[in-house]
Amino acid sequence: MVGIQLQTYVSIGRTWGNYMSETKSGSLDPKSPNTKTQGSVSRRGFLKGLGAGGIGSAIAPAAVLGASTVATAGAVAAPVQGRGEMVGPGRVPVRLQVNGEEVAIDVEPRETLLDVLRQDKDTNGDYVDFTGNKRVCDRASCGACSMLVDGRLTYGCTMLAIEAQGHEVITVEGLGTPGSMSAVQEAFVETDALMCGFCTPGMVVAVTALLEENQDPTRDEIRKSLDGNICRCGTYPRIFEAAEIAAARMRGA
Ligand code: FES
Ligand code: FES
Repeated sequence: MVGIQLQTYVSIGRTWGNYMSETKSGSLDPKSPNTKTQGSVSRRGFLKGLGAGGIGSAIAPAAVLGASTVATAGAVAAPVQGRGEMVGPGRVPVRLQVNGEEVAIDVEPRETLLDVLRQDKDTNGDYVDFTGNKRVCDRASCGACSMLVDGRLTYGCTMLAIEAQGHEVITVEGLGTPGSMSAVQEAFVETDALMCGFCTPGMVVAVTALLEENQDPTRDEIRKSLDGNICRCGTYPRIFEAAEIAAARMRGA
């Protein structure tokens, strides 16, 4: 059961990673509508299209880890070679870079990045305590767990913590503090762009990712860029407004 769950996560994470690589390289348009037209596909469309076939083609964890450095139980971090090598199921030591801090922690290989950041303890026995990003659907549907991994918008609930080694992770806490908010965070506060607030951290991160690439987005581009983030309270108009205000400030307009 654990193996199946792990492989499912791995498969989704890897396929999504490949997809994002393709969008970065221009073969897919990340700002496309939901429908698959003219070779483009949205995040939601991608996940809908993944289906059983995508999950069924899951590969061994070590293959996903590829050339990256992976710590194995009782050993200093060592490179994993080729397919077929497994880590776990016991805890393995990993080092993560989160919001500019190094986090040393023992994790079960099946644990997602989101869960480790929210609820695990580090090797000193202290909670990692990055609880800003929320665990809502836990299945790549809502976007509440959105964080940046090497600058890419990523669902923390579909990436394994062990996969995050060697990558720079930014959660919503890494964007600013109450005393020194980012432009996006400030705009969300000013426009009161939240009700229950569960979607808000993911929305803030997703808008941040958009404005990193496009500082003058149209309303339609903002709407499309947030199609992987669901607000059950329906606060969308204020969220879109916050994105426009932040964009204007970042442009100096
Ligand atoms: S909690 Fe990750 S997408 Fe919903
Ligand atoms: S503010 Fe409640 S889900 Fe968005």
